[in-house]
Amino acid sequence: MEFITSSEKETKLLASKFSKKLKTGDVVLLIGPLGAGKTVFAKGILKGLGEKEDSVRSPSFTLIREYHTKQGKVYHIDLYRLRRKEELINLGYQDYFYSPSAVVLVEWANKVEGLIPKGKKVIIDFLGINKRRIKIIE
Ligand SMILES: Nc1ncnc2c1ncn2[C@@H]1O[C@H](COP(=O)(O)OP(=O)(O)OP(=O)(O)O)[C@@H](O)[C@H]1O
Ligand SMILES: [Mg+2]
Repeated sequence: MEFITSSEKETKLLASKFSKKLKTGDVVLLIGPLGAGKTVFAKGILKGLGEKEDSVRSPSFTLIREYHTKQGKVYHIDLYRLRRKEELINLGYQDYFYSPSAVVLVEWANKVEGLIPKGKKVIIDFLGINKRRIKIIE
């Protein structure tokens, strides 16, 4: 499925709708260049799952943020600062990707390809300053 959004708000709305299909054990890979809207999409998912918007922050410095939403646990993982694939294993992070009791959202998953589940893919591309193409592969 392919969508075009023209604002952050629209992307959040799309993500929020998409979130209704998610269940624990699902892994969502958020793919796209810097500033494409991966975190915006993750925020929309969390909102759709009942999380208050102002409690959601980008996990960039912590790699992982854990939420307890109305619909269950969510791990929001951002691997941008991961230096090497092996760090995922060394830090014991790999287990998070195979959590049957959580929905797992991952930014920069391409850095650890092969180590984590293939998941559902959300691919975001720039079409303009505020325009994005969002492909969802389930
Ligand atoms: N249609 C749109 N959808 C999503 N974000 C948009 C859109 N138009 C403009 N933006 C802006 O683009 C930026 C997206 O930032 P965001 O942090 O979500 O990107 P990211 O892909 O997570 O980047 P990073 O790789 O640094 O983590 C925000 O400033 C947002 O307001
Ligand atoms: Mg981000």
